[in-house]
Amino acid sequence: MSIFALPYLSAVCNEILRIYPTQLFTFPRLVESTIKVMGYELNPGTILVANIYSTHQREDVYPHPKEFQPERFLEKQYSSYEFLPFGGGSRVCIGGTFALFEMKLVLATILSHYELELVSNRPERPKFGGLISYPASGVKMIVRSLRQRKGQSQPSVVGSV
Ligand code: HEM
Repeated sequence: MSIFALPYLSAVCNEILRIYPTQLFTFPRLVESTIKVMGYELNPGTILVANIYSTHQREDVYPHPKEFQPERFLEKQYSSYEFLPFGGGSRVCIGGTFALFEMKLVLATILSHYELELVSNRPERPKFGGLISYPASGVKMIVRSLRQRKGQSQPSVVGSV
């Protein structure tokens, strides 16, 4: 629980999900009765899909949106209309909290045990498969060294990378 609450780790995970949301769009919504949204009259039968990727790239909300800046999540609280990696409303992802929990535990565990280096410095490209996007070449890394943990004479190794 203390790892889950780490502010900078949370900001890093949020910034990762902002720049490369694994799901670029929400699931579709069907308009059932006429409604006006931002000046547009939407009639029954209209299908709406929220564009998560483009929302996260808005320059007015996220200055220098292509830059990886976790600090932006420490400086500002984004609304659910600005930051929506898990979609929103009544069909929001049911696994969002679990996914973030897992992401933080895995990242913190790996990074506290291993010193890693990228195999290639070429910028990673996203690949699209079905509804989700993921890194095309899998972000391959080399273990440079094991980190010595406080109070331990030998570095400990858990799991595999
Ligand atoms: C980083 C990981 C994940 C991301 C980025 C993600 C993202 C999303 C998004 C964008 C939606 C669409 C929400 C909408 O249309 O408003 C969604 C729906 C959903 N997600 Fe996830 N998800 C993740 C992990 C998970 C996990 C771990 C589970 C299950 C344990 C899960 C279960 C679901 C389900 C069942 C829905 C459909 C909800 C509905 O239609 O009512 N997701 N997810």
